[in-house]
Amino acid sequence: MKLLASAGLIGAVGVMSASVLAEEPHAKVTYAKEVSRIIQDNCQGCHQPSQIGPMSFMSYEEVRPWAPLIQLRVAQREMPPYQYDSDVGVQHLKGDWRMAQEDIDTIVAWVNQGAPFGSAEDLPPAREYPPVGEWRLAAELGPPDHTVKSSAWDVPAEGQDLWWKPEVDSGITESRCIKAVETLPSKAAHGSTHHANSHFMVKNEMGEWVRGDRLSEFAFGKLGEMVPKGACRKVPEDSKVGWEVHYYPDGNAVPNDQVTVGIWYHDEEDNFAEEDAYPQDLRAYNLNGGGDFLIPPHGTLMTQGFHSFDHPVRVDSWQPHMHLRGVAMALEVFDPATGSREVLSQASNWNAGWNHSHTYEDGFQPLIPAGATLVLTAWYDNTEGNPRNPDPDQWVGAGQRTTDEMSHAWIALTHLDEEGYEQMLAEQQELLKSQALVAGGAQ
Ligand code: HEC
Repeated sequence: MKLLASAGLIGAVGVMSASVLAEEPHAKVTYAKEVSRIIQDNCQGCHQPSQIGPMSFMSYEEVRPWAPLIQLRVAQREMPPYQYDSDVGVQHLKGDWRMAQEDIDTIVAWVNQGAPFGSAEDLPPAREYPPVGEWRLAAELGPPDHTVKSSAWDVPAEGQDLWWKPEVDSGITESRCIKAVETLPSKAAHGSTHHANSHFMVKNEMGEWVRGDRLSEFAFGKLGEMVPKGACRKVPEDSKVGWEVHYYPDGNAVPNDQVTVGIWYHDEEDNFAEEDAYPQDLRAYNLNGGGDFLIPPHGTLMTQGFHSFDHPVRVDSWQPHMHLRGVAMALEVFDPATGSREVLSQASNWNAGWNHSHTYEDGFQPLIPAGATLVLTAWYDNTEGNPRNPDPDQWVGAGQRTTDEMSHAWIALTHLDEEGYEQMLAEQQELLKSQALVAGGAQ
């Protein structure tokens, strides 16, 4: 079902066959013993008071009324919200929220058995959680080394999409390599900060301010971003930061709102040598086959675009971006030298409410030889069969508003030379071989 070989399959995407929830023989499951632990590990981070989940799942009493809906959302892999196919493409991802199939089966069985509590002595101790509105990367990296804020803007309670594009002084006095970046919307405007992108502005030879590299990209639901080993994403000194903040009013007026970006730098302790590092950048690849497109009322559309490089690259992360009619996106690589074509990553249950940068684990990043082509394919469903479609009677074109469509992916690439490519390829083959041995031995 996940192989979207033709647009005709789009109707099938996201539809859950009844058999998935059917009663299958399963050992007795209780909330106290098994389910509470699964909910702690996978749900409570968001489903607790003052977090973004609409209901709290901190106790049996809070969870029990939602059991049937929990079963459905978990079985559909809509919750936890991490839209990435499990049966195709690179599966080694950092910060992967997907649940183990075994845990999904346990939840399904528990609800089928009547969602019993069990005995109190089986309950795990309650978890401690970090306070809201704080850097999520801080748990691992401590507070950021440098922060830049957008200038203040009044977010209204009601209305259409709004864009706020201020330029601010970066406050950066020394060019250094970034280890990690995270964009933090304010706590008050958390629900209305739809996207917040930031880029550097640098002076050209004429002394004019021009757009430089991307600093960070944030869309609702996204965590921070770590630059992988051996790569240097640079901050330019004496620069400015240009913001593009997209607010979508959510009913709460927020006066003087500011979005903050936090930067962590590589330091000596990281054993990081700038001269040995390859340059890395994060860009939006608008690969929609020619700019504009139109999706007819009650119709579907597929867009496809291509991008190749004259040097080898390593793909470090992939973040699909579409809006409400977007249902699936895939990133492939086609190598004309060998004729091979391979899916690197696919999300066939796309949900515009959640944007993740799917960051490949170190060593597992796809390595692309010079001359090979990245192929980005997006599928749209403007029929009433798409549960997120606000109005199937509309023509939908490419554009900025939430009700328009987009067709791009944010891709972080490390730009290699032949020597680095060959070396990383050899290391990767060793890694895959050792993994295959482990998997083979386990059978
Ligand atoms: C990253 C935060 C996050 C995590 C983790 C998360 N949820 Fe959610 N959940 C949300 C948000 C936000 C919503 C409301 C918006 C939406 O449905 O996407 C939601 C909605 C829901 C709903 C209501 C859906 C509906 O149709 O009304 C259920 C049920 C649910 N979550 C269950 C779970 C379960 C069970 C887990 C863990 C296995 C989980 N969630 C993990 C944030 C989260």
